[in-house]
Amino acid sequence: KRILDTLDSQSTIIDTRQLTIPGESEPASSHDSQIAILGALNSLLSRDMVTYETHEVFSYGLTPEGAQIAKEGSHEARVWSALPVKGQGRPVSPVELKKLVGDETAKVGQGRAFKNGWIGKEGDGLVKVLESIKDTAKLELQEIESTGNLKAGEKVLADLRKRKLILQRKGQWFTVQKGSNFSTSTAKPETDLTADMLTTGTWKTSTFKRYNFDAEGILTSGGTLHPLLKVREEIRTIFLEMGFAEMPTSTFVESAFWCFDALFVPQQHPARELQDTFYISDPPVSLPPEKSYYERVATVHEKGGYGSTGHRAPWSEKESKKLLLRTHTTASSAHMLYKLAARCRGEEPDDDTNEFTHGAKPTTAHGESHAKGYDFRPAKLFSIDRVFRNETMDATHLAEFHQVEGVVADRNLTLADLIGFMRVFFKKMGLEQVRFKPAYNPYTEPSLEIFAFHPTLQKWVEVGNSGMFRPEMLEPMGFPKDVRVHGWGIGLERPTMIRYGINNIRALLGHKVSIESVENSPAVMF
Ligand code: PHE
Repeated sequence: KRILDTLDSQSTIIDTRQLTIPGESEPASSHDSQIAILGALNSLLSRDMVTYETHEVFSYGLTPEGAQIAKEGSHEARVWSALPVKGQGRPVSPVELKKLVGDETAKVGQGRAFKNGWIGKEGDGLVKVLESIKDTAKLELQEIESTGNLKAGEKVLADLRKRKLILQRKGQWFTVQKGSNFSTSTAKPETDLTADMLTTGTWKTSTFKRYNFDAEGILTSGGTLHPLLKVREEIRTIFLEMGFAEMPTSTFVESAFWCFDALFVPQQHPARELQDTFYISDPPVSLPPEKSYYERVATVHEKGGYGSTGHRAPWSEKESKKLLLRTHTTASSAHMLYKLAARCRGEEPDDDTNEFTHGAKPTTAHGESHAKGYDFRPAKLFSIDRVFRNETMDATHLAEFHQVEGVVADRNLTLADLIGFMRVFFKKMGLEQVRFKPAYNPYTEPSLEIFAFHPTLQKWVEVGNSGMFRPEMLEPMGFPKDVRVHGWGIGLERPTMIRYGINNIRALLGHKVSIESVENSPAVMF
């Protein structure tokens, strides 16, 4: 209102430091007043009522010590006040002076008061030499406090700064002109055009607040996919492109039978021990698998068969019935392969199996009849899901993580088929150079570890494990001898960490994952 009234009478405000506040004699020259004026100017500018230019100026303000001197006087003046006039009282000893004015003031003030010729010695004590003094420091600081500057000039200002009594501040002042919408009315402009304004016609005379098209929009927030889910989707797409069907893998809790026994993993194998596998205590045992299959598996372990000598170790039903958190998705693959072999056993397959054989036609080996037991249909299956291991957790290990697994079943597959498949698969993931190294798995023979040259890391990294499933696993399920199944497994976390440049797995999975990092992570393309 004051800005508008001043502009109305004199059309320009050359220096806002000269604006006077109604009822106050001093102009609004202080730092704080200029900040308040700036707020008012911006509000008027947004309504085109004024335009203004900014000028920079340096002004001075008091430090806490400076403010104390402006109020209570300088140290030297306080020392002088505490003393009696010479010859009119008992002189004050230096020790007494400290008690009267405080250590700091006594120390600093004494020297200056002597130098100014204000005080002197009488015996061992101190007395006033002058009856009245002029406390220049106090007056100077009071002037700076109220005006932000000092008429005495630069030299004194520099001295006060050195004594840490004042600080330089950057200030602003403004030159103000009338804007295109100038008026002396401070009525708030309308922010919305209403139906009422249109019917009554008041819109013609109303002033409207301008839209600020430079304002940043409010960030939209919504659901976002976790990096692991994005990478999972990418890998899933690769499998689907290659004609694979996804296996159901919701059984986080499996029996030791499906996780190990069906895979011909010896019951004494170290991977089955408590320190590697999480066992479930309630319920204490799993439901048994189909009886005759169970017996074939028990026999192949204990005594052998199908051309194998078996493990030749006693079979424990108790071990087989234990419940556990599956340590690999191959537990689910084993279960699915058993279902796939239903027709070969002369049984009706369930709905799952029909779905993942894609209605493939039965294939018949030379010399085989279509008789019961030989109705085999090839299948390509995959899964991407969670597994659990009793690991010591660190930057690269968690107790739960995800496995990607592919399984192909057909007649007369060879190791070359497996290698060929993996080359195509990894190429689709952006890994063109792959190498294979002989390895050992209880359920596959031969087994191969897969290494890929990583273009971003510029080095060979182990990416997976694979092999041809053993006859000791496939034949008890009911597959004919010429049906071979090869499979491979890779981790989901490792390629995701490489893709997103994450070094610590705990930043990817678990309670330490930040929602922001999930929201900000880009879409994935291998
Ligand atoms: N189950 C193996 C693992 O956990 C991966 C694998 C799957 C190996 C299929 C061979 C065949 O590492």
